[in-house]
Amino acid sequence: MRRTTHHKLLRLSIPFALLAALVCLSGCFREMPSEKPPIHLNPDMDKQPKYKAQSESAFFADRSAMRQPVPGTVPADQIDEDPAFFTGIDQQGDTVAHSPLPVTMLSLERGRERFNIYCSPCHGRVGDGQGIMVSRGYVPPPSLHDDRIRVLSDGHIFDVITNGIRNMPAYRHQIPPEDRWAIVNYLHALQRSQHATMEDIPVERRGAIK
Ligand code: HEC
Repeated sequence: MRRTTHHKLLRLSIPFALLAALVCLSGCFREMPSEKPPIHLNPDMDKQPKYKAQSESAFFADRSAMRQPVPGTVPADQIDEDPAFFTGIDQQGDTVAHSPLPVTMLSLERGRERFNIYCSPCHGRVGDGQGIMVSRGYVPPPSLHDDRIRVLSDGHIFDVITNGIRNMPAYRHQIPPEDRWAIVNYLHALQRSQHATMEDIPVERRGAIK
């Protein structure tokens, strides 16, 4: 009696062993390179009807699958309600004298961070025009502490960042408008740091200056 059960078990286990061996082996074949496309047992949503850019469509009257935005559509981050804020130039065509961005500690910190990232490679962290690019042969920019630069209007500096000037490239795509104004504000702090007078120092601290 016991003998037959053993026998039965053995007979059952052979196909199982074969199956297990096959499964293990199939793992080996997976990594083998093949010219043929893989067999897709479960296509999920890999293949689905869709229009590709520039393709034709029988559905729309103009036979193009691509749709035009609704007339007057403006990207959310480019609502140009205040041209002076976005160009630095007022309605009379003059550059604005003062940055419209209020000078706060937060905006100055932001301006310093952006200046150090985008401007210091050429102008140097202190704005002396001795950035790393210059030591590698880039056209040396003027010191931002030159008398000529110190009297430039805020709108002009904004325009220089936006559109570049002569040998300086434009940064409109890298630096959004608000950050450009933050840099302009910080630039004045930087300029002041190099042109400080006794009056800039609190009276009680003047004694410590030699
Ligand atoms: C790739 C190098 C480079 C970078 C980066 C750069 N500049 Fe300049 N910048 C120059 C050069 C060169 C000049 C001189 C342009 C000329 O007169 O030919 C200049 C000139 C200027 C001037 C004087 C403009 C005038 O009217 O004469 C200002 C202001 C200025 N840069 C500000 C900035 C600010 C702010 C940034 C950062 C947003 C910046 N620059 C980034 C190279 C650079």
